[in-house]
Amino acid sequence: METQKKKGRYQRIFHQLKELLEKPGDPDARMSTVVAVLHHKMDDFFWTGFYCLTKGELIVRTYQGPVACQLLEKDKGVCWAGINQGKTIIVPDVQKFPGHIACDPRSKSEIVVPLRDNNNKIIGVLDVDSSKLDAFDEIDAEYIERIVELVYRRTEY
Ligand code: SME
Repeated sequence: METQKKKGRYQRIFHQLKELLEKPGDPDARMSTVVAVLHHKMDDFFWTGFYCLTKGELIVRTYQGPVACQLLEKDKGVCWAGINQGKTIIVPDVQKFPGHIACDPRSKSEIVVPLRDNNNKIIGVLDVDSSKLDAFDEIDAEYIERIVELVYRRTEY
């Protein structure tokens, strides 16, 4: 997607989500709302969902798209890299990412953004896959980070 068009799309999504998540509420419900809006409004999002830490395991939670792996092998793949490095990871070509976990062979590129709770502790990641190569850039990272922050914190923009 062309840069200005993508920014405009994300800005509208951000404001819609900010309104939908205005009142504090259940984090699982908020995650579902984020996933539904992103998945249906962004063209190249083939799989959109959260993986969250439970007793040291990274387990799939709310998602939209094809059936995905329920449990991700510890310290392997892109989602665990996002957790362990504590930062957003952009993978232009998943086949070139060592240890990438292929839940669906149609996924070609990926972005993973850490999810932090109210104590700033990383408790999971939002993972987005695209069926196109090189689908994600710094604009996606910037806006998806702001959107993921809405799950726990009420951010003023
Ligand atoms: N590719 C991810 C696994 C999750 S799926 O993409 C839905 C990974 O390597 O962690």
